[in-house]
Amino acid sequence: MMWAYSVAQICASLLLIYQCNAITSPIPPFVEYVHSTELQTNVADLWWSVNDTQQEITFELHIRSLGWIALGISPAGGMKGADIAIMWVDSQGKVVLQDRYASGESKPVIDDTTQDWFALQGREQNGWTAIQFKRLLDTCDPMDYTIKSGTNNLIFAYGLVDPDSTQSNGDITYHDTRRGSRRIPLRSYNDPPSEDKFANLETFEWRLDNYLVPSTDTTYHCKIHKAPSHLTTRRHSIANKMIIDPANVDLVHHLLLYECDPAAVFDEKNLPDGLCDDFAEKLELCSSNIATGWAIGGDFLLEFPQEAGYPIGGDFPVKYYLLQMHYDNPRLQSGRRDSSGIRFYLSNELRQQELGFLTLGTSSSVKALAIPPKVNNFIVDSYCLPEATQNFPKDGITVTAAFPHTHLQGKTVWSKLIRNGVAVQYLFNADAFDFNYQFNHRLPEPIKLYPGDAFATRCVYNTMNKESITWGGEKTKNEMCLNMFTYYPRMNDMYMCATVNHPSAWKKQMNVSETPSSAAIQRWLQNITWTPELKEQWQQFYNSAPRRGFYGRSGQFHSKEIKVLPSYKDLPSETCQNSTGTNQTFNLFLMLALFCQLLIVNS
Ligand SMILES: *[C@@H]1O[C@H](CO)[C@@H](O)[C@H](O)[C@H]1NC(C)=O
Ligand SMILES: *[C@@H]1O[C@H](CO)[C@@H](O)[C@H](O)[C@H]1NC(C)=O
Ligand SMILES: *[C@@H]1O[C@H](CO)[C@@H](O)[C@H](O)[C@H]1NC(C)=O
Ligand SMILES: *[C@@H]1O[C@H](CO)[C@@H](O)[C@H](O)[C@H]1NC(C)=O
Ligand SMILES: *[C@@H]1O[C@H](CO)[C@@H](O)[C@H](O)[C@H]1NC(C)=O
Repeated sequence: MMWAYSVAQICASLLLIYQCNAITSPIPPFVEYVHSTELQTNVADLWWSVNDTQQEITFELHIRSLGWIALGISPAGGMKGADIAIMWVDSQGKVVLQDRYASGESKPVIDDTTQDWFALQGREQNGWTAIQFKRLLDTCDPMDYTIKSGTNNLIFAYGLVDPDSTQSNGDITYHDTRRGSRRIPLRSYNDPPSEDKFANLETFEWRLDNYLVPSTDTTYHCKIHKAPSHLTTRRHSIANKMIIDPANVDLVHHLLLYECDPAAVFDEKNLPDGLCDDFAEKLELCSSNIATGWAIGGDFLLEFPQEAGYPIGGDFPVKYYLLQMHYDNPRLQSGRRDSSGIRFYLSNELRQQELGFLTLGTSSSVKALAIPPKVNNFIVDSYCLPEATQNFPKDGITVTAAFPHTHLQGKTVWSKLIRNGVAVQYLFNADAFDFNYQFNHRLPEPIKLYPGDAFATRCVYNTMNKESITWGGEKTKNEMCLNMFTYYPRMNDMYMCATVNHPSAWKKQMNVSETPSSAAIQRWLQNITWTPELKEQWQQFYNSAPRRGFYGRSGQFHSKEIKVLPSYKDLPSETCQNSTGTNQTFNLFLMLALFCQLLIVNS
């Protein structure tokens, strides 16, 4: 008992970081759901399914209370701007639901525009309340908040008694400390299974050994690992687990595993292990073939799709792997030691398919990313040309997961599939990207890609909190623009398809005759006072600058100039369609028409 209690305590106190995915509600859910998660140990559990055809989400919330219970969708994780469903099962056993809206940290008001949450059923048992309810993803109601693709902010709360509707003051009671929040991608959650599922499998780990983390703001630590020599025949990893030292959850920012090109050779007795910058040249053949990764806020256990495994050992040509750890130590603490790393679970039998990883976006460099300060919406586009996918297998590849990644200023990352000049669908849209909560998203449906397909990738940045320019680079305060996809069958010559601004673009912009170095670009831009006009011009520069497109694998990138980013017929814009059957385009049109009429009448 004592032990169970302390585990629960730890889980509760680390809730935002550790997901202890055990469901504790004693009430079985009314139906089966695609997703479930614990919101708070022994207090709150949530199940949900998304119906993409209906654009609707069905939730089931269980909370250990016989009073009112509430779930909200919030823009930033607090109450401000949150759309909240407050519900209870009354003394007659009837479910009551109120659609509410919070304009700040005060009692949310009844949403008096439209009722967009619908109670389906509910019951009380063993001191818990269970209620099933639904909502459209986008209700088009200004007193709601859209459930965007990407990472959503959920808030929950509960009271100890039901509001008494027979009293004039029969309103909800204050929740006090009975509340919590959770960041989770509702539309693309890759529910981590229970670790028990892999309990009988062979494993191996690549970790640091009590590494003394430098007392500097950002550390990139690089360590080369060799495929375990006891794996004499090829094996498949079917899941991996990030092993983050519990004491260092504040320190480990992200971890990326790169495959070194088969041509890479190392002194086996002296494998590189230290600051990445100290080994930059040695690691060149290990620096762009990203395999799996994890970043802050993500789940620790990652299971691969059932039909595919990640090959390792035996005759698999990749022999060396680079484990890159990014430590974020803004308080410059010294004496912190870390042994974090990654564990692989190996299946007993090979699976049908082998997994590969494909990264889209831009290079993480000054030449690719230079973002002015105090801009709300700075757009950096990138394009992967149809030439790059010419060698995709004729039967296509199947993409199953997406791992979008930027640093602090990123707010949206998306990639669209472009076929014959037409945007077919999003590969993945992290419309609501949250740097502090990064996930490996499971695509709602796997997506097939064929030779000749192209991809447009966009990263959108908000630099309103910055005083100076933000550069592309690896430090936390630098920016990146990456969208990494898991797919099968694996191709061994295609890891990355990305862009960087072409040297000619920089020469023209800076009015110099020689290709400027990164340092020269930085010196030149550092002097600029960013007026609104200049910021606008800089966005224009990014919209029209020629790019160098590069694709392939490390050491063997193909490169091609892209004079202008190709245009394509875009996806139809998402228009709101609320229950009256009107839509906002129409309403805007109507308002404009009325306004014009007014002008005519008045003149
Ligand atoms: C979505 O809803 C439609 C209409 O109710 C239903 O026919 C379909 O099976 C649902 N899809 C899923 C995945 O539940
Ligand atoms: C570019 O540089 C040349 C020579 O340094 C100068 O003559 C020209 O005026 C400059 N053009 C602009 C637009 O600054
Ligand atoms: C930047 O401004 C300083 C002082 O205003 C000047 O001395 C320097 O030459 C400028 N640097 C560049 C690269 O324009
Ligand atoms: C539909 O949307 C319009 C515009 O947002 C809003 O004024 C109207 O009240 C909505 N009607 C219903 C029934 O949702
Ligand atoms: C929204 O209204 C506009 C104007 O009437 C119409 O052209 C458009 O097709 C409507 N969109 C949808 C999704 O109903």
